[in-house]
Amino acid sequence: MNRQFDKTALNRRTVDEITGGRRMRRNRRADWTRRLVRENSLSTNDLIWPVFLIPGKNKSEDIAAMPGVQRVTPDIAARQAEEAAKLGIPAIATFPNIAPELRDETGSNALAADNLINQTTRLIKERVPDIGVITDVALDPFTSHGHDGILRDGIVVNDETVVQLAEAAVLQAEAGADIIAPSDMMDGRIGAIRDALDTNGFSDVGIMSYATKFASGFYGPYREAIGTQDLLKGDKRSYYIDPANSDEAVRDAALDIEEGADMLMVKPGLPYLDIVWRLKESFGMPTFAYQVSGEYAMIKAAAQNGWLDGERAMLESLIAFKRAGCDGILTYFAPEAAKLLSQS
Ligand code: PBG
Repeated sequence: MNRQFDKTALNRRTVDEITGGRRMRRNRRADWTRRLVRENSLSTNDLIWPVFLIPGKNKSEDIAAMPGVQRVTPDIAARQAEEAAKLGIPAIATFPNIAPELRDETGSNALAADNLINQTTRLIKERVPDIGVITDVALDPFTSHGHDGILRDGIVVNDETVVQLAEAAVLQAEAGADIIAPSDMMDGRIGAIRDALDTNGFSDVGIMSYATKFASGFYGPYREAIGTQDLLKGDKRSYYIDPANSDEAVRDAALDIEEGADMLMVKPGLPYLDIVWRLKESFGMPTFAYQVSGEYAMIKAAAQNGWLDGERAMLESLIAFKRAGCDGILTYFAPEAAKLLSQS
C-alpha cells in the first residue's frame, strides 16, 4: 500500500491543545530542575560489599567471570574492610572459597569455630570494629556436592540442615558477625537461628533473611568464585523459588518475618524488582536486594567490549533498586560506586 501521510492532522490541534498546556518536559529542562524533582537518590549508605575469601596470607586471585573482583586472604579482606569504612560503606558480606580437602558430604567445616569465615570476621572486627560484618551460613561452600544443605540419598534434607545452620550461625556470632544472612532457603531456618542466637547470648545479632531467593541462572560466576561450579550435581530447584512465582515469594517472606527476620533480601536483583516492590509494599520491612554475580558480569563484560558505558549502567542499575523500594543493595560494584559517589 502506498499511503500518503495526511499532513492536515498536524494542523488540527496544537500541542498545547492536546496536552492542555501540561508539559512534562518543563521539569526536565535543566540540571537544577532535574535535581529538584529527583525522587530517589543513591548514597554510599545504601551499599553492602560482598567479598570472596581464600585461605592464606597476602594473596589475591582474579575471578575470570567477574572482572575487577578478587578472592582474597583474610588479611587483605581486613584491609578491604578498612577501605570500605573509609569510603563510608556500612557493611561487608563475606563468602568463603573453602579448601577442597575440607569439603565433605555434610559441610562439617561450617562447624569449625576457626574456619575461613570466622577467622576473617575476627580479623575484621579487630581492625575495623565499626564496619558491619554480614555472614552467610549456607553449606554450599563447605559441601563436596555444592548444595546448600546436607545431602542424603540425593535429597537435600531440611531439618537436619537447619540444626547445623543454627549451630554455624552461633559460631559466626561468636566470631563477631553482626548480621547472619542465611542464603540456603531451608524451611524454618530463620526461627531456628533466632532461637539458637538468643539462647547462646547473641540476642543483638540480627538476621537478614534471603527471604526470596530464586533458582536463578545468574549465580554462575559466583560458583566459579567459591569453586563449586564443577561440584554441583543437579540444581537447586527443590529449595530455591521458581522464577515464575511471585505470590509464593511474598508468602515465604511473611513466614521469615514471623520467625524473626530483621531484614529481608531479594536475590537476584534486577530481574526481580517486582518482588522487591511487593515485599516493601506488603511488609514495610528493611528490604535489600542482591545484585548477583551474573548481573555484575553482564554489565562489566558489555562495558569491556565497549558496548555500553559501564559506569552509567552501574549507577542506573543501582538507582533502579532504590526506586523499587530497596533500603540497600549487596553489590560487587560497592567500592567503585562509593568512589564515584564521593566525587559527585
Ligand atoms: C548459595 C549462594 C549463592 C550466592 C550466594 N550464596 C547462589 C548459589 O550458588 O546457588 C550467589 C551470589 C552471586 O551470584 O553473586 N548459598
